[in-house]
Amino acid sequence: MSGRSIRYCDINRVVDANDPETSLLEISIANKIPHLHECGGNGMCTTCRIRVIEGSENLNPLTRQEEEFRKKRNWDPSIRLACQAKLMKENVSIERLVWTNAEVSNLQLETIPFGIGDERELVFLFCDMRNFTPLADKHSNFDLAHMLNRFFTVLGDPICMNNGIIYQYAGDEIIALFGTGGGNKSKICMDAIRAALGMNYAIQRLNKWEFKDFETEIKIGIGLHYGRAFVGNIGHPRHKQFAVIGDPVNVTSRIQAQNKEYGSRILASQSVMDHIPEDKLKIGFRSDVKLRGKEIKIPVYEILGFVETDTNLEVQATLDQLLRNEEQFAELFYEKVFQQAPQVRTLFQNNMLEQGRMLTHMLRGIINSLSRPEHLMLNLKSLGRQHVNYGVKHEHYLMIKEILLESIAEQLGEDYTDRSRQAWIEALDLIIETMEPVN
Ligand code: HEM
Ligand code: FES
Repeated sequence: MSGRSIRYCDINRVVDANDPETSLLEISIANKIPHLHECGGNGMCTTCRIRVIEGSENLNPLTRQEEEFRKKRNWDPSIRLACQAKLMKENVSIERLVWTNAEVSNLQLETIPFGIGDERELVFLFCDMRNFTPLADKHSNFDLAHMLNRFFTVLGDPICMNNGIIYQYAGDEIIALFGTGGGNKSKICMDAIRAALGMNYAIQRLNKWEFKDFETEIKIGIGLHYGRAFVGNIGHPRHKQFAVIGDPVNVTSRIQAQNKEYGSRILASQSVMDHIPEDKLKIGFRSDVKLRGKEIKIPVYEILGFVETDTNLEVQATLDQLLRNEEQFAELFYEKVFQQAPQVRTLFQNNMLEQGRMLTHMLRGIINSLSRPEHLMLNLKSLGRQHVNYGVKHEHYLMIKEILLESIAEQLGEDYTDRSRQAWIEALDLIIETMEPVN
């Protein structure tokens, strides 16, 4: 290899980088190296961040966006944004830093003032897992650990996909927070409700497909409450931990516990409902819950679902099953593409295995960022511009939409309901319209 190069230390791969006008992110994409870029390279989301291991002096100076992030978020000087960094001379060694959607959600924690903490308005979500004890008697420790991992994964995904942070696992309970990065109250409450409904879907699928042989149906109870709390790092100066402190924590725990008495699954307090537009949700009963040690009672509502199909919820709910085996999905998809439209084969210059990885990586990223539409739109516009360069035409999009729907239907099997079909059609229409705006 001659000239300038970038070493990706996380995968031990070296690629050429001879154009000082091309960003490191563009170089990753051109070389089919999966690299998160939720805002499409616009210096807004920070998901493309890298650590520069060697050769930082060979990169361009920090851009304005990078300067701001570094100052506000107390970044380590080795961090750069791949969409802003360009290689001006010699070589550089880097590693990509953000991989999963949970990590993307956790980036919100950087907005909390370092060392001081802050008061924030948050939605608290407590999710309790019932009937787990009988399983513990019947199964080996390995089986139990596997089941718990699956439980925490499929129930954690809807939290992360809706801008929530998994704050703690307390025994059989998951505690999540929504709104740690601030933002619109109504959006924060809606994100938390969508996560709760997604968790309810997830446990049903887990019971049906994975836990069916264990003769126990795991049930969950979820409590949601909106309130003000302190967020920050607390503890011994040498061992501080992220903590949330305030009355809403106890209130939410109490609301969650009430599910057992009512036989309900999701209960949200009045403070959450105050921020949700009327007629948006299907409500079961309304009741008053007395808080331990207090005289007052607070109104709670049983949440059954959305009145109208919620595209984001339905699409998010299919992700685990759709992309559990990413390579298989990509293979199925491209096989159909080349069978039905052999003429587009020549557009693809690269190894199809790598191409498949880029497609599923992007699809996962799109589903994960449905709840951050301002980033998603920028990302899709930039993907659309790249597709013009790849030689993609309008008629190709129509064909790809149908083939993607067929592949999704095959992969989801009997879980491909009318509702998920409708949601996927809407999501693909949005993706394609944004990638390829009609002039
Ligand atoms: C739902 C819409 C689509 C999505 C989400 C999508 C996604 C992607 C992704 C993630 C890549 C990898 C490189 C990059 O990030 O730029 C890519 C590359 C590519 N896509 Fe798409 N794509 C879509 C529609 C299409 C259509 C309709 C065609 C036409 C047949 C197409 C043809 C290509 C080609 C030729 C490449 C470059 C392959 C290469 O470098 O060899 N894509 N696409
Ligand atoms: S900040 Fe680089 S892709 Fe969003």
